Amino acid sequence: MINKVGIVGCGQMGSGIVQVTAAAGFSVVANEATDELLDKGISAIEKRLDKAIEKGKMDAAAKAKLLANISRTVELEEMKDCDLIIEAITEDIVAKKEVFKDLDKICKKETIFASNTSSIPIGDLAAVTGRRDRFVGLHFFNPVPVMKLVEVVRTLDTSEECFKAAFEFAGKVGKAPVSAKDTPGFIVNVLLIPYLLDAIRQYENGLATREDIDNAMMLGCGHPMGPLTLTDFIGLDTTLFIADIFFDEFKDHHYAAPPLLRRMVAAGYLGKKSGRGFYDYRK
Ligand code: CAA
Repeated sequence: MINKVGIVGCGQMGSGIVQVTAAAGFSVVANEATDELLDKGISAIEKRLDKAIEKGKMDAAAKAKLLANISRTVELEEMKDCDLIIEAITEDIVAKKEVFKDLDKICKKETIFASNTSSIPIGDLAAVTGRRDRFVGLHFFNPVPVMKLVEVVRTLDTSEECFKAAFEFAGKVGKAPVSAKDTPGFIVNVLLIPYLLDAIRQYENGLATREDIDNAMMLGCGHPMGPLTLTDFIGLDTTLFIADIFFDEFKDHHYAAPPLLRRMVAAGYLGKKSGRGFYDYRK
């Protein structure tokens, strides 16, 4: 039975996961490396809740109730009695393995471990723990409070009981879970990333302007964002990182990063988060 949920990492994805989990009434322990990072994550949640209040979609009492479900810590030790832990730190396999090795020593044996990774094999993370059967992927989408999907990823070792508990949890936090195998990119990214790479290739080849490429896919296919805007939103560095992992794994040209993407990342054009990507967000 999942009651208390620990979330490691309170950045863009982690703070969203903290928010939806607390909104669903779970007791949440939010963890970050420093108090400053925790402040940043929690204030991002508060800002989103204030916006919802402004729009009349939430009242002050509901905001206070949601925030009261969140406790904060910079010590992993304080997550020892959580029933589920979701890791949402940066996509760095060494750092993720360190976190799980530490948590494995700290947490009670029943605790289920989950990673929100979009590109690192879940089985590789599970392998550093003594609980491979209680380890799943729980892949949320950005922005977490808005996007309905969670990919629940089962490794070769995930027990049926653990998978079921994680799948049910995703439903309880208001998401629509789908079951995915532990293969690179799961379902969404293995389809989405080649599409984004193709859009960048076409832009690089001069097929059309960036605005026309984006508008074509929005107006022609009903997508909420065009592919170049979406790459800016996801982050050009993240897109490149995932593409390189896919290319390494599949050795297929569909996953090869276009030179323009690599050059932009090297120049610090990382998308919305850095102020510049395919578009300029500095104004
Ligand atoms: N956090 C929380 N809520 C947000 C938000 C954010 N960052 N951005 C927008 N919203 C909310 C708004 O508050 C608004 O809520 P209400 O309907 O309750 O008022 C709603 O979303 C719509 O927002 P806007 O009207 O401001 O803007 P929009 O209609 O253009 O929608 C969007 C914004 C939801 C981001 C939409 O453009 C969209 O769906 N884009 C595609 C996003 C997408 O594809 N995400 C997946 C990325 S891939 C990924 O995450 C996987 C990976 O591993 C790389």
